[in-house]
Amino acid sequence: MSQTMKAAITAVGGYVPETKLTNFDLEKMVDTNDEWIKSRTGIEERRILREPGKASSDMAVKAIAEILRTKNLDPLEIDCIICATVTPDMVFPATANIIGDKVGAKNAFGFDLGAACSGFLFALNTGAAFIETGKYKKIIVVGVDKMSSIIDYTDRATCIIFGDGAGAVLLEPNFEGMGLQDAILKSDGSGRDFLHIKAGGSLKPASVETVMAREHYAFQDGQPVFKFAVKGMADVSAELLERNNLTGDDIAWLVPHQANLRIIDATANRMGLPKEKVMINIQKFGNTTAATIPLCLWEWQTKLNKGDNLVLAAFGGGFTWGAAWIKWAI
Ligand code: UT7
Repeated sequence: MSQTMKAAITAVGGYVPETKLTNFDLEKMVDTNDEWIKSRTGIEERRILREPGKASSDMAVKAIAEILRTKNLDPLEIDCIICATVTPDMVFPATANIIGDKVGAKNAFGFDLGAACSGFLFALNTGAAFIETGKYKKIIVVGVDKMSSIIDYTDRATCIIFGDGAGAVLLEPNFEGMGLQDAILKSDGSGRDFLHIKAGGSLKPASVETVMAREHYAFQDGQPVFKFAVKGMADVSAELLERNNLTGDDIAWLVPHQANLRIIDATANRMGLPKEKVMINIQKFGNTTAATIPLCLWEWQTKLNKGDNLVLAAFGGGFTWGAAWIKWAI
């Protein structure tokens, strides 16, 4: 029986910088300790892009280069690059354009998508919608963030959480029923007060005063974000299972945004999934914002089998959140 066309991930690439910032390093920088960070977040170390003159696009290019290599793909065949990020190289042009130039994707159009920690999930759905039109055959979706460029390393509430990295996927049409099956995406702008950067936008342009007040760094009121995240991510994942008549037994892997191990555990519990079915690399990479989900897929790809049911789930600044059900196609 012929299947309708779906958009499937056909290759994955990833990159994390070599430099590690451990909990013990942070103990020397702010009033914190390894025990507190591990027990409250699950994080032990994160990667930091230290090289001067390197930006988000450089990490994204490394992740995409892996896809080009493994698929033996000519960059001229790429139709579109969607870059999910909150740390663009510059305010404009879009980082996707810079990435396209650096990888030689001369026939591709590209744009950035800003949905913070849900960015990759939103971009994946956007890319899939392009594929489903039948007009586009090869779309790169990349989640990348150089969080170290917007983190205040004197603020213990945020500097212990975030790290740098990039993960990318190639989306192609699939006629065997594999790929993106369903997704629920949500936004609630009233959550903006709890997680944002105060200055540098059109509301409060950069000035000597904003720099002196450290308003160009990420601000987070952790507790309310935590409460919304636990409920948001778990609710939407459960709703996705329910409306597709799936139970935890049908799911091979949960691929959660890596913000806090306690949020991941709550989502897995709600879905009835044991820990062995949950991708977790937060201990090594921390919260890389738009890169967490594709970095998990990158690390786990050799363990995945064609037809596996995966649920991708995220919660982030905005607020933004959502979950997607995909059938693994590789
Ligand atoms: O990815 C985007 C979305 N973001 C998230 O999902 C993050 C959600 N939030 C969280 O993960 C957690 O709220 C944090 C990890 C940020 C904080 O954990 P918490 O359990 O909510 O801690 P808290 O802010 O309630 O602080 C508890 C205590 C406070 O001390 P007192 O008032 O009880 O004496 C803090 O001052 O821990 C103190 N504290 C710290 N102690 C050592 C706060 N940060 C630190 C720290 N080291 N880094």
